[in-house]
Amino acid sequence: MKNILVTGGAGYIGSHACKALAKAGYTPICYDSLERGHEWAVKWGPLEQGNILDKTRLEEVLKQYQPEAVMHFAGYISVEESVKAPALYQRNNVEGSKVLIDAAVAHNIKQFIFSSTCAVHGIPNQQIITEDLPIKPINPYGESKAEIENVLRDTALKNDFAYVALRYFNAAGADRDGEIGEAHEPESHLIPLILDTAAGKREHISIYGTDYDTPDGTCVRDYIHVNDLAEGHVQALRYLEGNAESQVINLGTGKGFSVKEIIDCARKITGKTINEKVESRRAGDPSYLVASNDRAKTVLGWQPQHSQIETIIETAWRWHQTR
Ligand SMILES: NC(=O)c1ccc[n+]([C@@H]2O[C@H](COP(=O)([O-])OP(=O)(O)OC[C@H]3O[C@@H](n4cnc5c(N)ncnc54)[C@H](O)[C@@H]3O)[C@@H](O)[C@H]2O)c1
Repeated sequence: MKNILVTGGAGYIGSHACKALAKAGYTPICYDSLERGHEWAVKWGPLEQGNILDKTRLEEVLKQYQPEAVMHFAGYISVEESVKAPALYQRNNVEGSKVLIDAAVAHNIKQFIFSSTCAVHGIPNQQIITEDLPIKPINPYGESKAEIENVLRDTALKNDFAYVALRYFNAAGADRDGEIGEAHEPESHLIPLILDTAAGKREHISIYGTDYDTPDGTCVRDYIHVNDLAEGHVQALRYLEGNAESQVINLGTGKGFSVKEIIDCARKITGKTINEKVESRRAGDPSYLVASNDRAKTVLGWQPQHSQIETIIETAWRWHQTR
């Protein structure tokens, strides 16, 4: 079985990718500092604790397992934190990724899959986002991802190395078998915060702005089930195994839901009262962020299978109750 190094494999999306890789016949080697991940989420291959900034440890693991490819999820993920502590994001997300990419090239790894984000576009001037829209991040988190996309492009130009940068929209939901799910600390994502409110752990869910140019005035986002994201990574790997050229590809459903629609759906699924509180807009929140997923369909043959909003909230709620 081929080994795949999965950095950040103890985190939310990385652990679902490890499960999908194992199902597809690969051995995921989880490389994670466990700073923001969970040992319990590593179930489908060995856990090698380490930091991507630690070149010596990384090389030791690469030498031991000789992975065919790298899937790189490790990083910090909060826009808000990145604004407060930009140097932290520069070091962990940018410098760390550079150390990892250099080590991968030095170890003759030719295939690399990177977790990027639609945040590289900042505030796009259209509702449906295609991959070729301008790269204009508006916070250090988005900047860190845009910078690594550039590093990957330059690395592929100079080496026998190809990559797929997958730009996720809003990752959501939990494993459909209930084995793993989202557990960020602190949590900043909308659906788990709504479910915390449904479970009585929070008094209300905050709605930041009801005067956006959208049908109900609240922000519209594209929610993609984490099992679909994970499957997209396996398909990107298979694509690269066919000696294909590097790509930047959106992973989203192409359909948007407003904050109010998500809250209403959560009320239906949980049967609970979910109090809401309207607050002022947050800086840098675009009205719409919805993916064009044509490239994922044509290049990878990928189709979202589990991203109906009810499935996303049902799986997240089931996971939330067992935690
Ligand atoms: N969650 C989303 O909606 C979303 C959207 C777009 C992009 N992404 C990207 O996807 C990736 C995974 O996101 P997630 O939600 O699973 O995050 P997560 O915080 O659940 O997982 C990240 C994992 O990386 C590990 N890690 C962080 N820095 C590390 C380092 N220097 N060395 C080793 N391990 C390190 C953490 O311990 C954690 O287990 C991130 O790169 C994120 O930027 C996420």
